[in-house]
Amino acid sequence: MFITLEGIEGSGKSTQLRHLVAMLAARGHDCLVTREPGGTPIGRKIRSILLDPDNTGMAPLTELLLYAADRAQHTRELIFPALAQGRTVISDRFWDATTVYQGYARGLNLDVIRQLHRLVLAECKPDLTLLFDLPVAVGLARALQAIDKGARMDSESRFERERLDFHERVRKGYLTLAGLEPDRFRIIDAAGDETAVRNKMQTIMNSILEKNHTAHHSHQTQENP
Ligand code: TMP
Repeated sequence: MFITLEGIEGSGKSTQLRHLVAMLAARGHDCLVTREPGGTPIGRKIRSILLDPDNTGMAPLTELLLYAADRAQHTRELIFPALAQGRTVISDRFWDATTVYQGYARGLNLDVIRQLHRLVLAECKPDLTLLFDLPVAVGLARALQAIDKGARMDSESRFERERLDFHERVRKGYLTLAGLEPDRFRIIDAAGDETAVRNKMQTIMNSILEKNHTAHHSHQTQENP
């Protein structure tokens, strides 16, 4: 099973990821926990270029290709092998972030992005995407506070420093994608505190995992009547 977590800056998805891993591990899942950009050693070098606030002159196409390069390495080195071994892969951001940030928010051509996705991902797609949704002002206030408190490095703040309307387009973009693929996406209201959000995620995950378990079980019974 392949699960991705998405949301605007300050949506709390990285904190909730830890709770999600605990939920899955408790059910016996062998989890690979990873993130984009920067899931691999090569990816971490790409990440530092992408998020460096000094890189104000980065062309949008350069940005797109660096995210694609990070993902090409990430899928080949980690994700594809783990899925082939039957592990549960959980990634803090994945390809939807490119469609939303570089496509909807930055304005790059969506067809070009789709073609790149085809090249980089082949047929691979997440089974489930949890979208942590909240008002942009709330998310950005949290994200900037995390930088002030030192919980997030200023050297990774290039996106937090984008204008408000950029982040509004990101939020809307994610909601648009969720509307286009309602079977894959689950939207979680992330405006509440950590416990409230975790409880919402737990309810969603319980129902998905029960359904998967039942489907798997009935499939096995059919195979071995
Ligand atoms: P994060 O580690 O806090 O999620 O930061 C990663 C940043 O990179 C975040 O601002 C979103 C951005 N991003 C893109 O613009 N495109 C992408 O494809 C990905 C994976 C992330």
